[in-house]
Amino acid sequence: MPILELNDITRVYRSESIAVKAVDSVSMTISEKEFVALMGSSGSGKSTLMNILGCLDKLTSGTYLLMGEDVGKMNKNQLSGIRNRMIGFVFQNFHLLPRTTALENVELPLLYSREKLSWKEIRERAKESLKIVGLGDRINHTPNQLSGGQQQRVAIARALVTKPKILLADEPTGNLDSKTTLEIIDIFQKLNDDGLTILMVTHEPDVANFTGRQIVLSDGKIISDKKNKPVSAANELEKIRLRNDS
Ligand SMILES: Nc1ncnc2c1ncn2[C@@H]1O[C@H](COP(=O)(O)OP(=O)(O)OP(=O)(O)O)[C@@H](O)[C@H]1O
Ligand SMILES: [Mg+2]
Repeated sequence: MPILELNDITRVYRSESIAVKAVDSVSMTISEKEFVALMGSSGSGKSTLMNILGCLDKLTSGTYLLMGEDVGKMNKNQLSGIRNRMIGFVFQNFHLLPRTTALENVELPLLYSREKLSWKEIRERAKESLKIVGLGDRINHTPNQLSGGQQQRVAIARALVTKPKILLADEPTGNLDSKTTLEIIDIFQKLNDDGLTILMVTHEPDVANFTGRQIVLSDGKIISDKKNKPVSAANELEKIRLRNDS
């Protein structure tokens, strides 16, 4: 079953003198449990498309169905509801609150959630989410006390805490070294194995090879869409470990 379905969507940004078609007549279907890489050169429309998929930005034309619901027909309130229930976001620059512990950063989305959880439940859910990303022992650290890779793990835990159906990640490994990148991708692959649908923007073909499908944008249009046999990040990490041991 398609989790999201785009039909001929376009997003035009207008300034006084010019109009830019950031996304231009894009149609695609993503099924549940896919792990997709979105690629393309700078300015090709990747972030604009991600923002549309995440219900953060409006379409100029076309239709977007998210689990069969027409996002274009929703009001602000319905949009924020569906965002909170369905979608988790991860960004290149982590977007964590400074001077706020990992635990509090992860609790935040639940404070805005409509789930009506008690304080105790919120705390438990946040701890559980930090454990999933391997940070159970760092919950009281603030972002400046964590490495880049650890900060990205906190951001992933924050994205997961609302139990989304889709994870949207815009260059999540763009600021990380190659081994930390593998560790983050390993988390994504495990989450994907457990059924999470993931869309990830990346510039790096090596990173895209860890996904099962590669979509390439150019000037706002899809120019290629191919299935891929994913490389296992866990295997790559194991190879590094063996090399360092010998
Ligand atoms: N808020 C905006 N107002 C006007 N133009 C915009 C806006 N956001 C993006 N654009 C334009 O839309 C096009 C696509 O931008 P977008 O940020 O989606 O590209 P991208 O593929 O994510 O690039 P990068 O790899 O550099 O992050 C660009 O030409 C950009 O200048
Ligand atoms: Mg971008």
